[in-house]
Amino acid sequence: MRKIVISTGGGDAPGLNAVIFAVVKSASRLGWEVYGSKHGYKGFLDPDELVRLTSDDVEGITPIGGTILGTTNKGNPFAMPVPNLAGEVQIVDVSERVMASFRRMGFDCHIAIGGDGSLDIAHRFALMGMPVIGVPKTIDNDLEATDRTFGFDTAVSTATEALDKLHSTAKSHDRVMVVEVMGRESGWIALYSGISGGADVILLPEIPFDMEAVCRKITENELHGKHYSIVVVAEGAKAQGGQVMNRGKGEAGRAEMLLGGIGEWVAEEIRQRIGKDTRSLVLGHLQRGGSPTTFDRLLALRFGGAAVRMAEAGQFDHMVAWTPPTMSAVPLEEAIRRRKQVDPASDKVLTARSIGICLGDGE
Ligand code: F6P
Repeated sequence: MRKIVISTGGGDAPGLNAVIFAVVKSASRLGWEVYGSKHGYKGFLDPDELVRLTSDDVEGITPIGGTILGTTNKGNPFAMPVPNLAGEVQIVDVSERVMASFRRMGFDCHIAIGGDGSLDIAHRFALMGMPVIGVPKTIDNDLEATDRTFGFDTAVSTATEALDKLHSTAKSHDRVMVVEVMGRESGWIALYSGISGGADVILLPEIPFDMEAVCRKITENELHGKHYSIVVVAEGAKAQGGQVMNRGKGEAGRAEMLLGGIGEWVAEEIRQRIGKDTRSLVLGHLQRGGSPTTFDRLLALRFGGAAVRMAEAGQFDHMVAWTPPTMSAVPLEEAIRRRKQVDPASDKVLTARSIGICLGDGE
């Protein structure tokens, strides 16, 4: 092992720089050269997007949000949006070019930091012969193979702080505040922040909701003399018999739909059904920003260190996973297959119900 390359792909998450720091520091101590591919795989396609990363280059980046390498969620080399001479965007497979450049540069290993989409791409390159190691990242915390992904704790802290702040204004105005948080197919951010931030109603993708039950909870609050309520709704939540709300694909080359709108819809339903003064807000990308919490920094640093140890051991086509109390290596193919969702029978959901939070299903 002499020369490795790191990339960050998909949506950013607090802690990406901490992983980069740990990889560069650990690899440099072993005498390896480290490079960074900017904006996902761009560094493999354009020499200007490939940077050498030394120990000095990463000094002090651990507490900084985002990624010093930049990222993209429309940079899949197997389906890359490329403008042609007429200015039209065409989807092109540039994976062979990436492989050729990887070999030409003499890299021995690629450490790919990303969510399920980026890890799927990494696995496809592993099948083509690239020695790849995956590091799991997503604020949604929706990968089954690892107990936690970094970025989640910071996102939950941001959402909880926002809920704390909304209590006083909701109370002052006797209002219902509906807060839409991120979480496409998994409601971890909504559940953790909702319980910790004193929500009255939490709506998750895993439990389709009934507006009758939601309004009943708000009306009960009124009858008990509490004239304000806080509703937390995950962007991927849907009404019973309804659909997830999306805003289309957005930019060319995106694999995922842009979700959003469910918070405003729930607020409007509440207004119409029980006539309560209601406001909605979308926390959106605030949840992805800022300095990582201590928990996320430590987890990200441990992931980075473990990834380099895996490279040293030649354990490729695997993802580093936190399986408390240890770090372990999970085959990438397995890691991308299983999504982690909230179990409606879990103690956290039961705790929410025990303390009087409505999960929208009338139970
Ligand atoms: O997967 C992480 C995530 O933050 C989702 O919760 C959200 O739907 C999506 O990324 C938003 O992506 P974009 O940065 O393209 O708006």
